[in-house]
Amino acid sequence: MAPVESAGPVALKGIVLAGGLGSRLRPLTKVTNKHLLPVYDRPMIYYPLETLRRAGVREIMLVTGGNSAGDFLRLLGNGAELGLDQIYYAYQEGERGIADALRLCEHFAGDHRIVVILGDNILQDDLSPVVAKFEAQPSGARILLKEVADPRRFGVPVFDGERLVAIEEKPAHPKSTYAVTGVYMFDRRVFDFVSGLQPSQRGELEIADVHNRYIRDGDLYYDVLTGPWSDAGTFESLFRAGELVARQRAREP
Ligand code: DAU
Repeated sequence: MAPVESAGPVALKGIVLAGGLGSRLRPLTKVTNKHLLPVYDRPMIYYPLETLRRAGVREIMLVTGGNSAGDFLRLLGNGAELGLDQIYYAYQEGERGIADALRLCEHFAGDHRIVVILGDNILQDDLSPVVAKFEAQPSGARILLKEVADPRRFGVPVFDGERLVAIEEKPAHPKSTYAVTGVYMFDRRVFDFVSGLQPSQRGELEIADVHNRYIRDGDLYYDVLTGPWSDAGTFESLFRAGELVARQRAREP
């Protein structure tokens, strides 16, 4: 009998992508890395790491790049202080795209499925139920969507009824009011798909092209985030992310 990829027994591995040059936040990012900037009371990178830890993902590869890469090691060490089993590090040259940063994690992933989060994504949902759904899928990918006021800034899903039929990256005329958030779950095929990509017009390997490849195979699933979500890659969204955390802290006992 042909071997069937099993979901349950092999633990998921986590990937946090914190490469890129943070050009939209200059001069804040002129000498330091965007993901080390403060979001209310913690460095930005703490939040995606904490999101993975809450979901039970404790072995993580952090891809960084640009300025101050060594500071991540000083800040995070082996991850024990954040409750992680181990953090591994990789360095991405230049700003060649999210899918390019992901490419660097192939050996780390090995035979494991992966949960990826962008280093500037701040959210409060417990992702455990979504991760469990992904583990129960026989194969494929899973993404998280969030309804937003300004979809043109994001990857935007196109629906036929409830069926997701395409993702358009930063469309001038969005076909829905949802954004693709920076949380992605993939089976091993992702690395084959990434290696077949061509750079987009802006010179990046686009994660939307990877999602569209899974859609072509009928193997991309989605959930909608219920809690608040913000990226932190522009002055306005960085400010909003800080407010979001401040409100959460005020509710904490
Ligand atoms: O936040 C969600 C959005 O993130 C999605 O809706 C978009 O589909 C996706 O393309 C991305 O859009 P952004 O324009 O916000 O991507 P940005 O270039 O700001 O990169 C977001 C994070 O990805 C960044 O904080 C670190 C990581 N990254 C990005 C690039 C370009 C890398 O690790 N390496 C890179 O080369």
